[in-house]
Amino acid sequence: MTKTQIWTSAFLAVFIVLFFLQRATMKDEAASSGPMTDMPSASSQKTYQASGEELVKSFGCQSCHGSDLKGTGLAPALVGLSSYYDRDKLTNYLRNPNSFMDQDRFVDFKQKYRNIVMPAYSNKDVKDLGKIADYLLGLN
Ligand code: HEC
Repeated sequence: MTKTQIWTSAFLAVFIVLFFLQRATMKDEAASSGPMTDMPSASSQKTYQASGEELVKSFGCQSCHGSDLKGTGLAPALVGLSSYYDRDKLTNYLRNPNSFMDQDRFVDFKQKYRNIVMPAYSNKDVKDLGKIADYLLGLN
């Protein structure tokens, strides 16, 4: 190789290296701009609606009814409720459990879960209770 050829190939090699370096840093930029492109979904969290299942978790129903809602020593199972309730009735129950206490099933519950009372959720948004009702009625 002549000196000129060596210099030319060296020059080309530098170019190629620079080219790939630039591509690599471009990828970095794309990656680091990731959170920025996530911004729309972060702001849409403001209008995020919790599902019935999530509400059951956040309202603490599982602490008495069990993590699988299959019942514990503290409270009965919340499965198969559709034989006893429709959506309205179940929503009403959650708002005011005491108004159901004269029913036979609840007389039994009172015996069985002597020291525990199903809390009234009348301070909660009815829409949320409706979602919980929908969710519970789907459990079998
Ligand atoms: C402090 C414990 C406790 C918590 C918390 C609790 N429950 Fe209850 N729940 C009970 C008990 C005890 C009963 C049985 C009725 C009674 O004795 O008042 C019951 C009964 C029920 C029933 C009637 C079941 C049937 O077969 O008719 C439903 C529905 C229900 N709970 C849903 C819920 C939901 C939904 C939540 C959360 C929003 C919740 N409970 C939170 C204790 C609790």
